[in-house]
Amino acid sequence: MTEHAGARLVDELLEATVVGSFSKIGPSVRRRTAQWSEPASLEGQTVLITGGTSGIGLATAIGVARAGARVRFTARTAERGNQASSRITAEVPGADVGFLLADLSDLEQVRRLAADFGRDHDRLDVLVNNAGALTREYRTGPAGTEVTVTAQLLAPFLLTGLLLATLEAAGRARVLQVSSGGMYTQRFDLGTLEMGPSDYDGTVAYARVKRAQLVLLHEWARRLVRTGVVVHAMHPGWADTPGIRAGLPGFARLMQPFLRSEDEGADTLVWLASSTHGGASTGRFWLDRRPRWEHKVPWTRLDHPSFVAAGSALWEWCAERAGWDGLDPVGPGAATPSR
Ligand SMILES: NC(=O)c1ccc[n+]([C@@H]2O[C@H](COP(=O)([O-])OP(=O)(O)OC[C@H]3O[C@@H](n4cnc5c(N)ncnc54)[C@H](OP(=O)(O)O)[C@@H]3O)[C@@H](O)[C@H]2O)c1
Repeated sequence: MTEHAGARLVDELLEATVVGSFSKIGPSVRRRTAQWSEPASLEGQTVLITGGTSGIGLATAIGVARAGARVRFTARTAERGNQASSRITAEVPGADVGFLLADLSDLEQVRRLAADFGRDHDRLDVLVNNAGALTREYRTGPAGTEVTVTAQLLAPFLLTGLLLATLEAAGRARVLQVSSGGMYTQRFDLGTLEMGPSDYDGTVAYARVKRAQLVLLHEWARRLVRTGVVVHAMHPGWADTPGIRAGLPGFARLMQPFLRSEDEGADTLVWLASSTHGGASTGRFWLDRRPRWEHKVPWTRLDHPSFVAAGSALWEWCAERAGWDGLDPVGPGAATPSR
């Protein structure tokens, strides 16, 4: 058996166990068996990360700064932004770092964010739609849409759309969506995507939105096919961040010895941003530097025609709520079938 085939077998055995794959065991084994290399240079490239003040977003900012990128990230307050900037420059002296203020649960702030970024930057090489949280109590944003849906589905949709010209200006730019393994528990259904106050369950709301991000991923891939901009989603496994400790405190306590570091959670984002692999395909879902199946149980799967119809319906729904629809569909079906 070649080393490559051996690494593949180990990887697939790990993936089948879920806990082995999602916990820190995953990257510690895969790093060695697949001989992970250091990120390629991002010298001269600009990377914008939403939610760069903490956890996986902050670790990604440090990782891409180390690779030489100009780093821009979003923060909800100037205090958090300044703290994160200091942390990045402490880790990477001389890094070109700046932040923009935006709360993504308010789409007006997303519009302002895109305008502010566009004023100072004529190209964007990598957009990382990372910001997110598991919100225990039902809340809505200013437009009346539940905040998980607003901040983690409508906001990345709108931000990506409004920044398309700057992404296209970079050549083969990359848009990376941070999803979650939680999405494996949900089948996509537009009718139940947005939970109401009476039946609200933060864990379910979060998992449904993360599943919807995957449905939208294929729609983006299909609609961007002529632009040269590629899109990917990934999940970070279970990483020990302030977000997991706040959102799932019992789980985080129980799993503490097995949680990944923030760097391990961010590794695939830095790799997709910098390696040739990240630019060589589109519409894929990754964990630990490999594309992954989008379903682990049969009942979450839609047949292909239903999946394509769901993507179009979700696109229309997002476009109407976000007030942006700059892209017509291209081609007969989703770029990559739902696996
Ligand atoms: N940690 C894990 O194991 C895990 C697993 C699966 C998926 N994820 C995903 O990974 C991403 C990062 O999570 P994390 O674990 O690193 O959490 P985290 O440490 O809480 O970081 C979340 C980041 O998003 C920002 N953010 C949250 N809501 C926002 C909003 N409405 N507007 C603007 N910024 C907002 C936070 O800003 P503040 O600093 O202002 O709070 C922070 O910068 C999320 O999309 C999450 O769903 C994480």
